[in-house]
Amino acid sequence: MIANRYNEILNFVEPYLLGNPKVFDNYSLNVFGKEFNSDSLMSCLSTKNYEFFKLVHKLDSLTFGHQGMGMDKWVFFDCSAMPAGIFGFAIPRKLVPDKLLRIFEVPDDYQGLVPITMYMAIPTSDRGRWFGHNLSSLSKFLDQDVRGIGLLTKAFACQVFQIEWCYGATQWGSPALEIHTQLSDMKLKASYLPAHTHQNSLCYVSDYSLENLERALNGERRVNEDYDFLIESADLVAQKDLQEKIEAGSEFSICARPIHRDEKIFYPIKKLS
Ligand SMILES: CC(C)(COP(=O)(O)OP(=O)(O)OC[C@H]1O[C@@H](n2cnc3c(N)ncnc32)[C@H](O)[C@@H]1OP(=O)(O)O)[C@@H](O)C(=O)NCCC(=O)NCCS
Repeated sequence: MIANRYNEILNFVEPYLLGNPKVFDNYSLNVFGKEFNSDSLMSCLSTKNYEFFKLVHKLDSLTFGHQGMGMDKWVFFDCSAMPAGIFGFAIPRKLVPDKLLRIFEVPDDYQGLVPITMYMAIPTSDRGRWFGHNLSSLSKFLDQDVRGIGLLTKAFACQVFQIEWCYGATQWGSPALEIHTQLSDMKLKASYLPAHTHQNSLCYVSDYSLENLERALNGERRVNEDYDFLIESADLVAQKDLQEKIEAGSEFSICARPIHRDEKIFYPIKKLS
């Protein structure tokens, strides 16, 4: 059971998968009562889907390009579409505002679906765990009220790909942390990551069991007053200090949604051991 606001979104969006059709057989194609249309299961090997592939690639440039993390097409193909597939929600062209059609450079004669969100993850060799490496949403460009579509995209994708435990990396202060913490606690594998494009990145692992996903989509903000301390999004010193403790063997998790106070963002941290 998911809250009505998410069902309302599901009423007008189409889930899509773009990738190696061979792997689609391993996935769940009926999630939260919504089934994939056969037209929305697209092979990345077929030239007839190239226009859609280009739009999904453009979606990545629009959301990650300005952060210096946009992907080349070969990364898209070799490291996402072929190994696991790209999941997201799309809408018919007639529902896409003109401004977005222009930004997207949708060709005049293109009448197919237009992707508005995507999630990418690849399986790792660690106990069936995955690594999620892209979550994008163009919600702000749409005329409809789709608040929650980013959260719905990640939750839906976890069910499609049958992900239970998943790693990820993101930056302190990213709006994506609203989504990750709504879904589950984030056990910190690293709180400071100079090996990443942005050193203020954290690396985490989370439990995306169906129970956690359904709780995340119940319409209520996930809060937890029982935290040990707060980390502020811009406090690199505290993030490095926490990293030292992690490397010395202590374990911590971000245990609820961020707290917004005086235009600053604070993350509730629980010491696990
Ligand atoms: C991050 C991103 C995917 C969020 O997509 P979205 O469609 O706006 O997210 P949702 O509407 O599902 O938001 C989920 C919740 O987070 C909140 N939220 C979203 N952006 C927020 C922000 N900037 N500040 C505070 N809260 C925010 C929403 O209000 C919603 O809260 P609710 O559940 O209490 O209603 C989108 O902004 C994006 O594509 N960013 C660029 C790419 C990126 O950085 N991706 C993350 C990589 S880890």
